[in-house]
Amino acid sequence: MKSEAAQNPSGDTKSLYGGTSTRRVTVHDIAAAKRRGEKWPMLTAYDAMTASVFDEAGIPVMLVGDSMGNVHLGYETTVPVTLDEMTMLSAAVVRGTKRALVVGDLPFGSYQEGPVQALRSATRLVKDAGVGAVKLEGGARSLPQTELLVQAGIPVMSHLGLTPQSVNTLGYRVQGRGDEAAHRLLHDAKSAQAAGAFAVVLELVPAEVAAEVTRSLDIPTIGIGAGPDTDAQVLVYTDMVGLTGGKVPRFTKQYANLRQTLGDAAKAFADEVVGGTFPQEEHTFH
Ligand code: KIV
Repeated sequence: MKSEAAQNPSGDTKSLYGGTSTRRVTVHDIAAAKRRGEKWPMLTAYDAMTASVFDEAGIPVMLVGDSMGNVHLGYETTVPVTLDEMTMLSAAVVRGTKRALVVGDLPFGSYQEGPVQALRSATRLVKDAGVGAVKLEGGARSLPQTELLVQAGIPVMSHLGLTPQSVNTLGYRVQGRGDEAAHRLLHDAKSAQAAGAFAVVLELVPAEVAAEVTRSLDIPTIGIGAGPDTDAQVLVYTDMVGLTGGKVPRFTKQYANLRQTLGDAAKAFADEVVGGTFPQEEHTFH
């Protein structure tokens, strides 16, 4: 077990990562981290057990992303994810965590009709799943939704740049390249802040554009494929631990190889069952 000083090198009881506070992280803590110039990590999570591991590791913000569609539910994109699925898995992540702020994604089709639909969907995630905030995609087109949710007391994380729910129109391409697109992205980010968003995810945008957005906002930016100069970084956890099969995006980094580890464990178990060496006496009741 590491000493408290080793876990918390800054010695700051308030740091989002490595801080010693045990109560749940709030959007006020996130705002304070931006004022201190502190960088912080966010990971996705989709189940209680994995969420508890990340919570114990000190990850301060967990996103129940609609990436659950691709990585957890076996869909090809995030588009089919339903509010029922999001509510069930968000509730599991909330139950698995004690400290992290849990953010639930509003799935495609649960907020595009307008602010009232967005409020109904977000209320479900807050009341039935217990999330502390919701995330929604889109700049100008989602501002009325953001405004109403914030007025109703629901913290909103905005998601700009590549917005995977729009895969059928945008594809999976870097966004914000060129002066006009960069200007639009900056304008969208400022508008999201003005509408009351507490943070902005920037996905797959040029590093220089993300850096400028980060300098221009009072709320934190959370980058994924957006270079090193955002306030926070997020990764889809299955990419980060090497569980995702096939090709992973260039912007992710693999910190473990769980696909290999799980496969090896499954083979070792199967070999012992077939060879008659599992179970042994210590696994047996009489
Ligand atoms: O759904 C998700 O996991 C996300 C992150 C990639 C930011 O939106």
